[in-house]
Amino acid sequence: MAKILAVGIATLDIINEVDGYPQEDTEVRALAQQVRRGGNATNTLVVLAQLGHACAWAGTLADDAQARLIRDELAHYHIDTTACQEIPGGSTPTSYVTLNRRNGSRTIVHYRNLSEYPCERFRQIPLADFQWLHLEGRNLEETEKMLRYVANSGIKIDISLEIEKPRPGIEQLFPLSPLLLVSRHYARARGYSSAGETLQQLRQLAPRADLLCTWGEQGAWLAPAEGDLLHRPAETVEQVVDTLGAGDTFNAGIIHARSQGLDWNTSLDFASRLAAYKCGRSGFAGLEACLTSFG
Ligand code: FRU
Repeated sequence: MAKILAVGIATLDIINEVDGYPQEDTEVRALAQQVRRGGNATNTLVVLAQLGHACAWAGTLADDAQARLIRDELAHYHIDTTACQEIPGGSTPTSYVTLNRRNGSRTIVHYRNLSEYPCERFRQIPLADFQWLHLEGRNLEETEKMLRYVANSGIKIDISLEIEKPRPGIEQLFPLSPLLLVSRHYARARGYSSAGETLQQLRQLAPRADLLCTWGEQGAWLAPAEGDLLHRPAETVEQVVDTLGAGDTFNAGIIHARSQGLDWNTSLDFASRLAAYKCGRSGFAGLEACLTSFG
């Protein structure tokens, strides 16, 4: 199994489960409430840890009570947090999630008041110990410095970069990562109407990268650096329960499969099944069962 480092954020997710999405300016009662750790990078790591990988997280943590919950859960999954930076006086990033039980959709309001992980701290991590580095496409200036630092260091490490949200200037990162994991949310915000179109456009900005784009129920498309376009239809989920972090789970599936040397077809297949399995259950616990059922 691989040693995997992810850079990104951890959040406190306050999730209200409702029976149908509410109208504006009305009141509804939640069917259930969960308060749990979230954030793309740490979601991906929690999944990878369950698949047997040795995981480490590099990100910032506040010194408030909510950060304790985040630390405790990462410790539960044996995720190494020694590279984390504690920010005195900051507050834990919170995401207020309305989860519609009828269709599993999630609507999120974020509140952010914590500085993000600096490249200066990233440089102190012994990168040569790791086989895979996964980064979120956020905190753009610092992330660009990190990618350039790794490229110039001569360290041999696999890299994946998640492109989830359309942030101004995010495209400057595209040529710097050998694998881009692109979401439909980003693609649509850029005006692309299909995964095929997205990958074609991205190819101009990242000529040598493997480009992967997920498109919800339609599945995932991969434009490998060399070779033909691949498509993996989405796995059907009998009852969608919770889509929060489905993309992060898919990314974990790809990192898992590729770090084990699996080919692209098998990797897309594994990631799709893993993400579908996650959508059929609440939260991220119990995903290791996938290794025996379809690993
Ligand atoms: C899911 C998620 C949530 C978090 C939000 C951060 O992908 O990571 O856990 O609240 O997105 O953007």
